[in-house]
Amino acid sequence: MSLAQIIQDLETAAVAGDLPLAPRAENIVPGEGSPTAEILLIGEAPGFHESVEHRPFVGVSGKLLRKTLTEAGFPPESVFISNIIKARPPENRDPTPEEIAAYKPFLDREIDLINPKLIVTLGRFSMAKFLSEVKISQVHGRLHKVVWAGQNRFILPMYHPAAALRSTQMKTAFISDFEKLPKIMAWLKDQSEIQTFAKIVKAQLL
Ligand code: URA
Repeated sequence: MSLAQIIQDLETAAVAGDLPLAPRAENIVPGEGSPTAEILLIGEAPGFHESVEHRPFVGVSGKLLRKTLTEAGFPPESVFISNIIKARPPENRDPTPEEIAAYKPFLDREIDLINPKLIVTLGRFSMAKFLSEVKISQVHGRLHKVVWAGQNRFILPMYHPAAALRSTQMKTAFISDFEKLPKIMAWLKDQSEIQTFAKIVKAQLL
């Protein structure tokens, strides 16, 4: 499986009429970035600019996201940026449960393929994919470990950049949450080294 194959399958499903909001292949806004990214960011749905450029997070909120990521030491091309749904809802309304379900297999394939060390959720819709019954105002910027689809996953819920643009307080929180990323990534790297070491030791002892 490759990212190109996921995009092709999305476009084929759109043309076949199997995807809401995307009657044509051109309506699809696929995820973008490094296929070996250690960080996968998941937003909500493309807006107007994204649907014109066929790229996620290239409008006003995308500019804030990309700038904040870069300032935290993670340029956008070093991560992978995707969305819960891959076509624009009319008037940028919230995605429906049916739309989220229709695009789920494609996002899940991105997660499997990239297998990131950390998943950053942007806003409540992507947070709800991994964490239920929590409030974003209470958990943003805090690292969570979950078992998701049979795998241990580290999830860092963040405010959506569009919310950060609506209030100074949220923008401050958004930026300071991103400033935690270098330490979190260093910690996650240590964890995986410890685990690898433990596996080697176990293999030698058995
Ligand atoms: N908001 C999102 O959630 N995703 C985008 O790609 C753009 C804006």
